[in-house]
Amino acid sequence: VINLTDRLKGIALEIFTGETMADIGTDHGFLPIYLLEHEICTKVIMVDISEGSLEKAKINCMEANPNAQFDFRLGNGLEVLEPGEVDAVVIAGMGGLLMVEIMEKEISKTKTYKKFILQPRSAVGELRFWLVHNGFTIESECLVREGKNICEILTVSNVCEKILNFQIMQESPESIRWEVPDWHRGKDDDLTEDYILRKIAREEKILKGKMNSHTAERKSTIENIKYLKEILEG
Ligand SMILES: C[S@@+](CC[C@H](N)C(=O)[O-])C[C@H]1O[C@@H](n2cnc3c(N)ncnc32)[C@H](O)[C@@H]1O
Repeated sequence: VINLTDRLKGIALEIFTGETMADIGTDHGFLPIYLLEHEICTKVIMVDISEGSLEKAKINCMEANPNAQFDFRLGNGLEVLEPGEVDAVVIAGMGGLLMVEIMEKEISKTKTYKKFILQPRSAVGELRFWLVHNGFTIESECLVREGKNICEILTVSNVCEKILNFQIMQESPESIRWEVPDWHRGKDDDLTEDYILRKIAREEKILKGKMNSHTAERKSTIENIKYLKEILEG
C-alpha cells in the first residue's frame, strides 16, 4: 500500500472518483499507483521523459500490484497523449517555466484536457500569469507543507471564465501580485500566514542588501513588503 506525502495527498484530493488521469513527469509513480489502489481512477497514464524514471515507476507498480495493467509512456510532456485522452493532467514537482513550456507546445491540444493539477517547484507567479493570459482558469489553490517547504497546488480548468481584477492583468509576470495573488487575502490559516511571512522575510533581506542603494532602487521592495503585509492582514 502506497503512503503518500502530504504534497502528493494534496494533489490526489483534486482528482475526483471516476476521472481518468495522466501524470506527466511521474518519476516514482506513487500518485497514479495510489489513485488506482484507492479506486479513485480506473485509468492512469504514467509519462516521463527519462527512461530511468519510468523504470522506477515500473518497479514500484510491480511491487504494488503485479497483476494490474499500468500504462507507461516514455516521452516529452503531453506529446505521448492523444487529444482529450484523460480528464485530468497532473504536472508536479518541476519548475513552473518547464510546465509552461509543456503546456504551450501544442496549445490547442493542451486545451482538450479539462483539468490540470499543477504543483510547481519555482516560478509560480510566471505560471499563473501564463495560465490566465492563455485562456485557462485557476479554479482553486491550496498550500501544503513538505518538510521545510510550503508548496502551492493549482487546480486549473481549460475554460476562460473568471474575470480577474484589472490591476493584476496589468502587472508583469515577475510581479509580487502574481507570486502571491490577492486571492490569498484574508485566508487566516497557519499555513497561509507562514507562507506570507516567509515572503516578507525574503523581501526584507533583499531590502537590507539594498541599504546603500538609491531610494528609487529600494522602492519596489518596499512596495512588495507593504503589499504582502496587506494580504497578510486581510
Ligand atoms: C522531480 S520529479 C517529480 C516526480 C513527481 N511528479 C512528484 O511530484 O513527486 C520530475 C520528473 O519529471 C520528469 N520530466 C522532466 N521534464 C519532463 C518532460 N518534458 N516530460 C515528461 N517528464 C519530464 C523528470 O524525468 C522527472 O522524473
